[in-house]
Amino acid sequence: MRGKLIVMEKRVYIKTFGCQMNEHDSERMLALLRGCGYQETGQPEEADVILVNTCTVREKPEQKAYSLIGRFQQLKENNPAVIVGIAGCVAEQGGEHLLTRIPFLDFVLGPGKIHRLPEILQAMEEGQRGLCVIGFENGTPVKLPLPQSRQLSAYVTIMQGCDNFCSYCIVPSVRGRERSRPSNDILAEIAALIHKGTKEVTLLGQNVNAYAKNNPPELTFPQLLAKINAIPGLERIRFTTSHPRDLTEETIGAFGTVEHLCEHLHLPFQAGSDAVLARMNRGHTREEYLVQVKRLREVTPQISITADVMVGFPGEQEADFDQTLELMQAVEFDGLFSFKYSSRQGTRAAAWPDDCPPVVKQRRLERLQELQRGITLRKNKALEGTITEVLVEGRSRNSPDHMTGRTRCNRIVNFPGSPELIGALVNVKITEGLQNSLRGVRCG
Ligand code: 5AD
Ligand code: SF4
Repeated sequence: MRGKLIVMEKRVYIKTFGCQMNEHDSERMLALLRGCGYQETGQPEEADVILVNTCTVREKPEQKAYSLIGRFQQLKENNPAVIVGIAGCVAEQGGEHLLTRIPFLDFVLGPGKIHRLPEILQAMEEGQRGLCVIGFENGTPVKLPLPQSRQLSAYVTIMQGCDNFCSYCIVPSVRGRERSRPSNDILAEIAALIHKGTKEVTLLGQNVNAYAKNNPPELTFPQLLAKINAIPGLERIRFTTSHPRDLTEETIGAFGTVEHLCEHLHLPFQAGSDAVLARMNRGHTREEYLVQVKRLREVTPQISITADVMVGFPGEQEADFDQTLELMQAVEFDGLFSFKYSSRQGTRAAAWPDDCPPVVKQRRLERLQELQRGITLRKNKALEGTITEVLVEGRSRNSPDHMTGRTRCNRIVNFPGSPELIGALVNVKITEGLQNSLRGVRCG
């Protein structure tokens, strides 16, 4: 192990693609770099280190990351001292090949090796180039430092990796098998965050419901929720992302008993047809998904349910797609993230013909999004006149004398107010339901 890297007034630019897990990884990389004396900059032109934290789950974010890296070639030509690195899932998948494919790239860092970033930069300071550090350590995930500044709402990783092997999904190859953190570490981290001012935590993992599934006597996921709930000073608990296969009745029940657990669940369903679900290796049917939604609403009638869905999976026929639309109508999701299927090298589905023509994928996506826009707007309008608790997060982007925050159901609310309210829980009466947010006024 090398000595601790301390540099003065060096600047790092980080661009993040992909999921909340990746955003959190970027936060952790920044915390590590701040510990070595780096400051963050939003301008790649003035950075000493440029880091692109990539996502490979779909073709589009991967292409965006490559084209961004391509733009840094000129910077590198103008200033060969600048260090350009690639992190995240594209780095894990591409490994050493990336150093050949992108000749001006200085290092490749996989998501399982984030803790080695200071050491890599130390080696760069000493003149090394072309380093590739990827792979996963056995056992529990490595502990990384907490971000230094107060975070009103903070992410906490509880598990990493995924054992589900959905046939379209690259995650198990790039993030490894399921590994859960010891509950004592998680509880200590949350207590430390609260001490620094955190009011809300979002528990993160590729499949949080599977927390410690295979390692009793560790707490189960709902037991962990109950323990977190008992930490003094915490106002809100969220978690993402969940797989229907691992959503137990006990976890559904937690929505009715764990006081600080917010009434929102992100539960991807991916497709509405059993034939497609089976080829996706999802391990649940359409009916099983609908039963879970029914149970969730029995326990917590106001729960907001969001999901991910895909169109144009290999072999998806018009009749299959109609079943996706029907499922959406049956559930009436509060929000939906929808994607066109893209073949990912290394997955099981990559061996099957990507037989849905691009124009058909596009048309299906547009129909689905139009249907969802109508549902979301109708649901937001139905909230007009209700009073809801909002955690105030900051100033509204559109108006300096308005504040913005979120309801427990994860809806964005803007209302007249001033910055002293940041961090407070306030009651807001909803006056207008819009497509992507709510407007209201403080009351009570
Ligand atoms: N093509 C398109 N969308 C995908 N997703 C995962 N893999 C693919 C793929 N190969 C979507 C799923 C998942 C979300 C994170 O990305 O809907 O839930
Ligand atoms: Fe993308 Fe998946 Fe990696 Fe997240 S874990 S960045 S969604 S490939």
